Amino acid sequence: MKALILSGGTGSRLRPLTYTGAKQLIPVANKPILYYAIEAIRDAGITEIGMIVGETREEIRRAVGDGNRWGVKVTYIEQDAPRGLAHAVKIAEPFIGTDDFLMFLGDNLVRDGVTAFVNQFRQDAPNSLILLSRVPDPQRFGVAELQDGRVVNLVEKPKEPKSDLALVGVYLFDRHIFKAVNEIQPSWRNELEITDAIQYLVDHGYRVDAHVIDGWWKDTGKPEDVIEANRMMLEYIGSRVDGVVDESSAIIGRAIIEAGAEITNSTIRGPVIIGKGAKISNTYVGPFTSISEGVRIIGSEIENSIVLQDTQIEDIPTRIDNSLIGKNVQIHRIADRPRALTFVLGDNSRAEVQ
Ligand code: G1P
Repeated sequence: MKALILSGGTGSRLRPLTYTGAKQLIPVANKPILYYAIEAIRDAGITEIGMIVGETREEIRRAVGDGNRWGVKVTYIEQDAPRGLAHAVKIAEPFIGTDDFLMFLGDNLVRDGVTAFVNQFRQDAPNSLILLSRVPDPQRFGVAELQDGRVVNLVEKPKEPKSDLALVGVYLFDRHIFKAVNEIQPSWRNELEITDAIQYLVDHGYRVDAHVIDGWWKDTGKPEDVIEANRMMLEYIGSRVDGVVDESSAIIGRAIIEAGAEITNSTIRGPVIIGKGAKISNTYVGPFTSISEGVRIIGSEIENSIVLQDTQIEDIPTRIDNSLIGKNVQIHRIADRPRALTFVLGDNSRAEVQ
């Protein structure tokens, strides 16, 4: 069995972060979302991975390389434009050949991995196995309708969903999917939808099994999804202090403090991860916060947030909460009168003040 990871797309709902980087490389618990997918695939015993890349191809290649680090072999497959998930399958046919394959959307996180589903597919040998999860907002996803446990209908982003069963971005297929992706027509958003290709399999008498997962799953399409994913992944971290924590600092609960990080006169209340070379002083870092390499936080309070590389936060009088802050951002206080807020924010930024 092979695997296909989809790492194209423009990440429009994650702007401005995605103006400068691939959405799949945004870190949760200081690890790019995409790496969790590679690890889940490797743990399921699959070592040949096709990586579909688009506009952000260079960045993905730099981050993933040939896959050696994970003991897998990554082959890059170029998609000229985001023409849909089924289009990605179509162009991957030379790589997949006649093998069965697992398709994993690179911005999806499945906490418990995919080993159980791969085993189920191997054992039951349907033509396709799809994963479903109950969600409160099915209109954001592909939605499946089941009858007596069998898939009867699938609709991509329905205005009036027939169920609350969203398609998780992890699918298993045998070679019949290639016939389906070549037969379907583009959707209203001018993409070849994998949802329509699966419907084609159902309509033409192929066996499509569904597995409703009860473990945690997230499509990290929006900033609030990334923050929630970060919370979920931090729940599982251990405790390790490789950096320097001075005597007037306190670490409460589970925290990872990486080598070269310095914590001075601060309180860290876990679960928290603090990356290499970060400097935290006179600061409170509260639960569910991930701080990347090289960040400096001085005289501030922050919790339930993600701060990316080399950002500096200084003397902010109000606690920062529920925030996703990009690389090289500077947030600091000015003492001068008149009292005012001063912003230099990129397009599609969001600032909320009280
Ligand atoms: C895609 C699929 C959708 C699925 C979702 C899961 O949506 O088209 O059926 O439910 O991924 O993440 P997209 O992220 O392309 O909007």
